[in-house]
Amino acid sequence: MTEFTDQSIADTEDTRPQPCLAGREPIEVEVKANKSYWWCSCGQSKKQPFCDGSHKGSHFSPLEWVAEKNGKVAFCTCKQTPNQPLCDGTHCQFNP
Ligand code: FES
Repeated sequence: MTEFTDQSIADTEDTRPQPCLAGREPIEVEVKANKSYWWCSCGQSKKQPFCDGSHKGSHFSPLEWVAEKNGKVAFCTCKQTPNQPLCDGTHCQFNP
């Protein structure tokens, strides 16, 4: 089984910049309808799961997501979800 580090999951042959693994589980956030949320895509933000500007100078940009309704949402912190910015369970591959 592949061993992943907290620093990066970039040790692949894919040469595109890879985000840092910011977490191994989603973070649940109470969201408000029609409000914009800026999801950290680089994994460097200290305000996970949201952007704090740490991506500046990198190839990454935050992703805007607008809540359709009030309620709890699970935002991805592993940064590997194909359903950005929401957790889809992909993080399970990074947990022992
Ligand atoms: S935290 Fe990334 S898919 Fe769940």
